[in-house]
Amino acid sequence: MEKVKMILDCDTGHDDAIALMLAAKHPEIQLLGVTVVAGNQTLDKTLPNTLNVCQHLGLDVKVYGGMDRPMVRDRIVADDVHGASGLDGPVFEERTKEAEKEHAVSYLIRTLMESDGDITLVPVGPLSNIGMAMRLEPRIINKIKRIVLMGGAVGIGNVTPGAEFNVFADPEAAHVVFSSGLPIVMMGLDLTNQTIATMEIIERMEGIGNKAGKLFGDIMRFTFESQKVNGLSGGPVHDVTAVMYLVHPEFFETRDMFVEVDLSKGPSYGRTVADINDRFHKEPNVTVGLNTNLPAFWDEVERVLRLHI
Ligand code: BDR
Ligand code: CA
Repeated sequence: MEKVKMILDCDTGHDDAIALMLAAKHPEIQLLGVTVVAGNQTLDKTLPNTLNVCQHLGLDVKVYGGMDRPMVRDRIVADDVHGASGLDGPVFEERTKEAEKEHAVSYLIRTLMESDGDITLVPVGPLSNIGMAMRLEPRIINKIKRIVLMGGAVGIGNVTPGAEFNVFADPEAAHVVFSSGLPIVMMGLDLTNQTIATMEIIERMEGIGNKAGKLFGDIMRFTFESQKVNGLSGGPVHDVTAVMYLVHPEFFETRDMFVEVDLSKGPSYGRTVADINDRFHKEPNVTVGLNTNLPAFWDEVERVLRLHI
């Protein structure tokens, strides 16, 4: 099978780190580069977090720092979930791996324009880098094969009653992406909240006995604790679903629908208004993930973690 060419755009982040581990070692994925954005924490934290994960696991992939703030709104972070560093829990060795000099937005534009239109973008943080790249060089829109993202929700949000963090953190950028006309797959909270790394899952991955299994444990034990206040039995690995969908769409139940980002500055700011019952009678623009086959999902995570050091 030909490998899926992808660029991961992330704000590392606990679940981002696991998504990176899956993307970097999955035998059917070619990870071309990793672009980093402010989100779970400020860019001066999400960028080192990304580099630390790469260095710790010996991942030979180029990492590019991008937007340090949203396009329009004020910056927010998710330190209640991810801690002061954005990736509290694991302790990394002194870092020598450096980010590339090129800005993530320039890298995205250059790489897409030079491509044969065969690259999938996988954004798992606020959409500031992707939205900015589309505004700066609109010709990239015809060069992107498709976008498979983590963000949004059909139902309830996790920052406001209606809005999910990645979209709420940069709704204007999300609007640029959702209205681009590109094929979009949205892994929203309705689906991703199902992927809880329970203590059973954590111990199973640690039991692999390699560095990646240990890192999975160090990362997800932190969210296991931090999510207790929300009454959850562990932290969901939201971002992993977007990478997994590329290689195993059969693990997911999806539905095509029209989705629009609410940009009005009221209580629904940043909500993905998903027309699941076709009230607007508009052409669907997004394939929305609704459910996943959890046993198959975790088996595949474990299989790929075993391929790491
Ligand atoms: C999303 O927000 C972040 O905290 C996670 O990394 C994930 O991308 C979930 O709402
Ligand atoms: Ca993320």
